[in-house]
Amino acid sequence: MAQERTLSIIKPDAVAKNAVGDIISRFEKAGLQVVACKMVNLSKDKAEGFYAEHSERPFFNDLVSFMTSGPVVVQVLEGDNAIAKNRELMGATDPKKAEAGTIRADFATSIDANAVHGSDAPESAQREVAYFFSDEEICPRG
Ligand code: TYD
Ligand code: MG
Repeated sequence: MAQERTLSIIKPDAVAKNAVGDIISRFEKAGLQVVACKMVNLSKDKAEGFYAEHSERPFFNDLVSFMTSGPVVVQVLEGDNAIAKNRELMGATDPKKAEAGTIRADFATSIDANAVHGSDAPESAQREVAYFFSDEEICPRG
């Protein structure tokens, strides 16, 4: 299986719960490497641009408000099958439907404050990684 990169965001609810280390530890234990990482306060523009595909959805304004409500930790994860592996570790969007032991089952509060973001396909992963990181900010370890 080819090495892939995916974008992960630890959302404001999980940062507020001091769960950054626990969540990153799950990625590392699953064999994903953190090859880029930063904590940022997203501007409204940056959050709106990131979630542009959802701009017509009824939850869009609440989603942008939530994502700008506190700092987030944005990372690039690299590894075999990284995109699907991260989605598996995350669990379903709605934590009530997330399998036991997944990040969302353990840390999310609700469907709108659901602890983590993860890219859902190779195209979105490429776009989302480039949305937050320049090539020089990504440090593959080979
Ligand atoms: P989506 O891309 O469908 O989920 P995922 O994060 O699992 O890829 O939606 C993006 C985010 O929008 C989701 O993480 C939380 C928010 N959201 C809501 O607040 N309500 C909803 O009904 C849905 C579908 C998403
Ligand atoms: Mg999504």
